[in-house]
Amino acid sequence: MESFAGKVAVITGGASGIGLAIAQALVAEGARVAIADRDGQAAAEAAAALGDSARAYPCDVTRLEDIEALADAAWSHFGRVDLLFNNAGVMPGVAPLTQASENDLRWVYEVNVFGAWNVCKVFVERLTTQGTPAHIVNTGSENSLCALGPMMAAYNSSKHAVLGFTDILRHELPDFIGISLLCPGVVKTNLSSSIEARPESFGGPQKNPFGPMTLGMEPSELAERCLAGVRRGDFYIVTHYATRYLAEERCSEVMKAFDEQTEEYDGWREWDSRRMIMQALAAMSGNSG
Ligand SMILES: NC(=O)c1ccc[n+]([C@@H]2O[C@H](COP(=O)([O-])OP(=O)(O)OC[C@H]3O[C@@H](n4cnc5c(N)ncnc54)[C@H](O)[C@@H]3O)[C@@H](O)[C@H]2O)c1
Repeated sequence: MESFAGKVAVITGGASGIGLAIAQALVAEGARVAIADRDGQAAAEAAAALGDSARAYPCDVTRLEDIEALADAAWSHFGRVDLLFNNAGVMPGVAPLTQASENDLRWVYEVNVFGAWNVCKVFVERLTTQGTPAHIVNTGSENSLCALGPMMAAYNSSKHAVLGFTDILRHELPDFIGISLLCPGVVKTNLSSSIEARPESFGGPQKNPFGPMTLGMEPSELAERCLAGVRRGDFYIVTHYATRYLAEERCSEVMKAFDEQTEEYDGWREWDSRRMIMQALAAMSGNSG
C-alpha cells in the first residue's frame, strides 16, 4: 500500500502510545481512523483531538462481542476498512517463571494473544468479504524475536505467540491482504503502567514495577517507521538497531545447533514437514471436494 490518503484504519489500543502515534501519523497523511480502546474516555479524547477524521470506539479486545461491535460500527460509519493495526497490548509484572502470578499470566495471554487472535479472526473475515486491497499490522515486539533476559517469560512468550500465528496467517490470507509483524524495541509509552489498570477479573490493579518509561524511541518516530514498513509491504517491521544483536544471537544459535547436531543426506525431503503438510492439506481438500 503506497499511499494512506483516503484510506480507513482501525487501531486497537489506539488511545495511547504506539497506537495513538500511528493514528496521528495516518490522519496527517489524509487517512481516517477508528480509535478503539478499552479506555473509552481516552479514546474519545484522542479522537476529539484529531478532528473529523477520527472516531472513538470503546472496545476491550478480550471480549469477542466488543470486537464484532467495533467492526460493525467501523464499516457502518466509514463504509470500508483498508488498514488494521492490531496493537492493543499489556505488560504484566516481572517474576521468574516459577513465581509468575496466575493472574498476570492469564491477563497477558487474554489481551496479547487471545485478544489479538480474535481481532484477526473478526477482521480477516470481513476484509476478505470486502475484497479490496488491505493490510494488517499485528504488534509483536522485539520480544517476538529473542529473549531479553530473565523475569519476563509471561510477556515474552505472549509476543512469541503473536509471531507464530501472524506467520501462519500470512499463508492463509488472500493475495489482496498484506500482513506485517511490528517488532519494536523500547518505546516511550504508558506500557509499563498497564498493570495499574489490570482488571478485577485478573486480580485488579498492581503497582508498576518499572516506573514510567522515560527512555526509548518517541512513539512518533516508531509510527513513521511502522508506516514505512507497511508501504514497502515488509512482513517483519523492525525499528530498533539495538534489537539486532539479540535476534542474531537467536538465529545463530539455532543454525549452529543444526550444523552441529544434524547432517544433510540424500532423500531428506521425505521428512520435510512443510512438504508433508502441503500434501496432506491437498489430499484433504481433494477428499472433501
Ligand atoms: N512501548 C514499548 O516499548 C513496546 C515495545 C514493543 C511492543 N510494544 C507493544 O506495543 C503495543 C502498544 O503498546 P504501547 O507501548 O503503546 O502501550 P500503551 O499502554 O501506551 O498503549 C496501549 C493501549 O492499549 C489499551 N489496552 C490495554 N488493554 C486493552 C484491551 N484489553 N482492549 C483494548 N485496548 C486495550 C490501553 O488502554 C492503551 O491505550 C502493545 O501490544 C505492546 O505490547 C510496546
